[in-house]
Amino acid sequence: MVLTYLEPNQALIHEDEEMPDITIEIRKNGPYRVYGDVSLVDHDGNPVPIPEGKRKVSPEGKTWISLCRCGGSVTKPFCDGAHGRIGFIGAEEAVEKLDATRPLP
Ligand code: FES
Repeated sequence: MVLTYLEPNQALIHEDEEMPDITIEIRKNGPYRVYGDVSLVDHDGNPVPIPEGKRKVSPEGKTWISLCRCGGSVTKPFCDGAHGRIGFIGAEEAVEKLDATRPLP
């Protein structure tokens, strides 16, 4: 599948092309783990190299990279483990904790 952007928030989807096998896993209180043969580009469409050691292989043989979700990585857009050091709480868990403190209507 290829997306061609016409205007902000509008896209023309060419469905005749095969969709890549990509899965994005939202790790609990951690990064976005992107499985599949992906490439990264910057805001101008220039390739962003994936540093040595950042592309890993799962036990099932799928390649993956981890993208920072906490904002604390010094190697953005890649996760460097800072989420654990800063005690990052993902939105889903943060909302659950907030909801637990709210009085019932
Ligand atoms: S999610 Fe891992 S460093 Fe931000």
